[in-house]
Amino acid sequence: VTDTGLGRSGIREVMDLAASLDGVVHLELGEPDFPTPLHVVEAVQRALTGGQVKYTLSRGEPELRELIAAKLEAVNGISRGADGVVVTPGGTAAVFGALSALVRPGDAVLLPDPGWPTFEMVARLVSAEIRRYRLTADRNFEPDPDELDRLARGARVLVLNTPSNPTGAVFSPSAVESALEVALRHGLDVISDEVYEQIVLDGSHTSATALDPDGRVIGIFSFSKDYAMTGWRIGYLTARRDVVEAVVRVQEAAAACPSWPGQRAAVAALTGPQHVIGDMVDEYRRRRDVAVELLDRVDLLAARPRGTFYVLARVGGVELDTYEFARRLLQEERIAVAPGETFGPGGAGLVRLSLASPPEAIAAGVEALERVTAAAASGEDGRRG
Ligand SMILES: Cc1ncc(COP(=O)(O)O)c(C=O)c1O
Repeated sequence: VTDTGLGRSGIREVMDLAASLDGVVHLELGEPDFPTPLHVVEAVQRALTGGQVKYTLSRGEPELRELIAAKLEAVNGISRGADGVVVTPGGTAAVFGALSALVRPGDAVLLPDPGWPTFEMVARLVSAEIRRYRLTADRNFEPDPDELDRLARGARVLVLNTPSNPTGAVFSPSAVESALEVALRHGLDVISDEVYEQIVLDGSHTSATALDPDGRVIGIFSFSKDYAMTGWRIGYLTARRDVVEAVVRVQEAAAACPSWPGQRAAVAALTGPQHVIGDMVDEYRRRRDVAVELLDRVDLLAARPRGTFYVLARVGGVELDTYEFARRLLQEERIAVAPGETFGPGGAGLVRLSLASPPEAIAAGVEALERVTAAAASGEDGRRG
């Protein structure tokens, strides 16, 4: 009776196993290793002293929604005003709110494969029919419009994610435009997950939300990655009014409102110095360069990431069980990575390394990857029975 049918995230499984071992190098985590900027922490400390920590409006504090609307306009070119914004407990809750608002049981939802596992978990919670579209290295991990066209028939929602977790792809303007064109032609709403919008290492981010010609794109953003604020649990969504109102209802039921301290932190992040983002991105770029060079040298690089702080390594063929591979890497080498198959069948043969760790850790990880990959390829272990 308590089976949710959700399965377990392979990343959490690796984290649990890693917690039982000593001296583990962590390359599995999807969170910045930088602390939240000090001015944000100090602003919240001041606000807490004498502040009244209470419920807020379900859609978030007016001051924060105004600031977010101004940021969306200035940075993203999206002008929906504060009434077009809902503050959520992280981008995760924004995805939950959007899919809950749009999808009725049996509606088909198009999800990236490989893609962030939470998309599928939420789609299952709302009893959607899941249709996966493939992202492959030979297409730079961008969607194939012909495949989208076949899958979109009779579907309800297309989920797009650029910059993409776990592939590190940053979709070209034409890739975003053609995906949007297909979705709108078939009458789908689009959920555009842009939580890594500022973690761009080469080129620039194309926002499907900004291109939205007729209010069918729901944009999802977060403070977690850009400002190293994962634990504050603040994200936001921007959408047309009927979707905003539906999401606010879902949020009332699921969480009542986003947290008060988190919203004070978000106000401080938006009104404080913005170079904090660029400083972190510069460091991710340096680490990306290290990881790409090392992985390339041992012929394990799946693709050069252009955004996010992830890199995919190609550690075997489709016959390799990547969960087993990740367990083995952890037990034998004390290196934790995320198994590719936790991101969908399209993650076969791959593991994801996080660049949210110092270069020495990345170098140690690549060395160990090479050893275990060679052992697995020679048939010692790690293959499906
Ligand atoms: C693609 C993607 N979207 C959304 C999120 C949500 O992050 P948060 O809920 O911390 O904003 C993540 C976190 O890993 C992610 O990778």
